[in-house]
Amino acid sequence: MRIAVLVSGSGSNLQALIDAQKAGQIQAEIVGVLSNKSDAYALQRAKNANIDTAIIQHQDFPTRASFDAAMHQQLIDWQVDIVILAGFMRILSGEFVTKWQGKMLNIHPSLLPAYKGMHTHQRVLDSGDVWHGCTVHFVTAELDAGQAIVQGVLKVSYQDDVNSLSQRVHQLEHLIYPQAVAWLCNSQLKYINQSHVEYQKQPLNHPIQFTQL
Ligand code: GRF
Repeated sequence: MRIAVLVSGSGSNLQALIDAQKAGQIQAEIVGVLSNKSDAYALQRAKNANIDTAIIQHQDFPTRASFDAAMHQQLIDWQVDIVILAGFMRILSGEFVTKWQGKMLNIHPSLLPAYKGMHTHQRVLDSGDVWHGCTVHFVTAELDAGQAIVQGVLKVSYQDDVNSLSQRVHQLEHLIYPQAVAWLCNSQLKYINQSHVEYQKQPLNHPIQFTQL
């Protein structure tokens, strides 16, 4: 399996995937890291690990479709099997998503379907929620709405603020994302269709959960 990781920022999830691959947890090769931002620290992490990088900046393209087409071409050039979104901050067109349906994962910092979109930690605090976490899901055309595979769950403390929640959620992300990618790479996890995901030949009706104690 050949993996590409799409990033826009720090890339701590990319680092977790690189480390998991080096440790033999993921049976695949990360062949390229693609960023829409030239100053993303994730690019440095890729270079440190001798992984090929590409910068495709959305502002250089007149339309979302042409930007997505350039990204798709880069993925084809890398002969990619699986696309991993790791803090990639652009909405993808339906056409692009369809091309990678069942082969593209995202991680989102909330217990989906709660809190799709941005500012999830603040929204959890504002709502006074007891539980928070992160979700790995297949990417579908609707934002943050694809089938959930695995969630990391934590209990919100009265001492938590946005920074502490962000750090605690990141710790969980670094645990569950390499796990989900490993399952996809070794075929324990299969996308069947929009409403059906199989895990080890069983329908996966609810995400698998890891809880931070
Ligand atoms: C993570 O919180 C992830 O859930 C979200 O973007 C953030 C990326 O963080 N999609 P990093 O760049 O991997 O550190």
